[in-house]
Amino acid sequence: MCGIVGFIGQNEAKEFIIRGLKKLEYRGYDSWGMALKEKDKLKIIKETGKIGSVDERKILSGAQIAIGHTRWATHGAVTSANAHPHTDCQGQIAVVHNGIINNYQTIKEALLKKGHYFSSETDTEVIPHLVEEYLKSGLSFLEAAKKALKELDGNYAVCIISQNENQILAAANGCPLVIGKDKNNFYISSDILALQDKVSQIIFLKDGHLAQIEKEIQIFNLKTDKLTKINFQPMDKIKKDEGLGSFKHFLFKEINEQPAILAKIAQMETKEIETNAALIRNSFGTFMVACGTAYHAGLVGEYFFAQNAKMHLNLSLASEFPAFKGFLTDKTLLLAISQSGETADVLEAVKSAKTKSVKVLSILNSPHSTLGRLSDVMMTTPAGPEIAVLSTKAFTAQVAVLFLLSRAINSDLVKARKILESASAAIAKSLSEKNIQKIKHLAQKIKNTQHLFAIGRGLNFPTALEAALKIKEVSYIHAEGFAGGELKHGTIALIEEGVPCLVFVGNDQEKDEILSNAEEIKARGGYIIGIAPENHQIFDEYLPVEDLPAVSPILNIIPMQVLAYFLALEKGLDPDKPRNLAKSVTVKYPILHRVGVRKW
Ligand code: F6R
Repeated sequence: MCGIVGFIGQNEAKEFIIRGLKKLEYRGYDSWGMALKEKDKLKIIKETGKIGSVDERKILSGAQIAIGHTRWATHGAVTSANAHPHTDCQGQIAVVHNGIINNYQTIKEALLKKGHYFSSETDTEVIPHLVEEYLKSGLSFLEAAKKALKELDGNYAVCIISQNENQILAAANGCPLVIGKDKNNFYISSDILALQDKVSQIIFLKDGHLAQIEKEIQIFNLKTDKLTKINFQPMDKIKKDEGLGSFKHFLFKEINEQPAILAKIAQMETKEIETNAALIRNSFGTFMVACGTAYHAGLVGEYFFAQNAKMHLNLSLASEFPAFKGFLTDKTLLLAISQSGETADVLEAVKSAKTKSVKVLSILNSPHSTLGRLSDVMMTTPAGPEIAVLSTKAFTAQVAVLFLLSRAINSDLVKARKILESASAAIAKSLSEKNIQKIKHLAQKIKNTQHLFAIGRGLNFPTALEAALKIKEVSYIHAEGFAGGELKHGTIALIEEGVPCLVFVGNDQEKDEILSNAEEIKARGGYIIGIAPENHQIFDEYLPVEDLPAVSPILNIIPMQVLAYFLALEKGLDPDKPRNLAKSVTVKYPILHRVGVRKW
């Protein structure tokens, strides 16, 4: 959450800062800001809202050193005062920060007593004031920053500049920060995506390290105060975000990429799948951890392993994993599923498992992420960068990889690959213009509903959860997913005349029962939208999907992703950037208590 960028070099800084922030906007878009070092003054620009429409030409600055930030609010409301960069009392030092400072209140109280005045409610603002305090005591900029950072308890990626210094200090602790370079310039970002097409070489800053970047770069270990070795690696292997192409929104573009991605997964290297399936088979218990959509993929995986491999994998929401830590031994395997590889709850689960010598296998869409670096073994989902905040192609890719793994346990890979190839063709078919128009009309019809329910059984119970999540997060319609048998245990009380209910009906052993569940809803006035290979009498609306029961969640979720997209458009909402959300949830919990704020 939040995106940060920094630049120092011979070119004009604003070009990269603005372009970089636009690339990172998907990580948070409550407000944005930048600090540009102009001769011996800092020019600070901060605004609420998205940077997307800002015209670079309107920012007049020839600065060659600058930092920038796009915010997902944790501490303090969405105001320009709370937008980054934050400065010290004199406006001489500017800081952008991603992460959370847990002990900021204690630090702030001490600084207030020393006469510092604060202009925001953020945790970040303590950093420039601490640096200011240590500069007053006679330390150099570098030493003052080091001392300030050592006082922080929490996670951070920060960039710090001073009006009196021709350098940038960048430090990381538990939040990613990558530094890239070309011949004449250094570029810093919390996300490698901002560096694409810019740099030839990159280095990921390790936790507890601080980089001092001037004409050259030095990296210090903050614990030992010693200089560390610098190993830049070539940038060329990083997957690029190819832009929107002919699409209007990333969400629709990414939905349409799924047939090609599935075809790629069908061709995944046999050795990789079999070795990792063997890891699962031979572990003394496998736990899966994930959040949100990735958790739903894990839930499909749990069914796959039960059905295809006759194995029980223990799935836990990453944030609930501490309750199960007692079961971990050095023979346990932890399977972490994540698109971004930066989700704080997932990282915490992985780190805690590693303290018990648990082996970590990840199914990951962003291999150059913190999770990638923490994993013992990584399976990369070849979905490419996912830019829309809603996860779509990463979900189907995760499900497809889990399917292959579950089939590989019993050496059934050849058939499994064929099924995925068929799934790829089936999805392409379901994205035909005719089907898209049908879903668009359905969205027009149900856009004003207050509530919506989704039900499925077996493999399609997770599909129902995922369908509801897609719809609610982008259209703000209250949507809930249930196992077909579960609705009558309470929630059926909410069904009244005309309430839309999505029902996933496959040609599988669950068919009769899920149709009975649909009857129960219809009897109470529910409006039944069937997603199935064939039409059934009970359906008020019918969205056709191909008949491929082994991987039906992959097929069934596609029309739901499209429905979510059109519901957002019908309601005049931005399908790529829903309110209150950010692409990577890199904080565990925002700390909402505040201390006195003095405005100035
Ligand atoms: C929903 C969505 C989120 C993510 C969740 C985990 O569309 O995108 O629910 O799935 O925040 O994120 P990753 O997969 O990056 O760990």
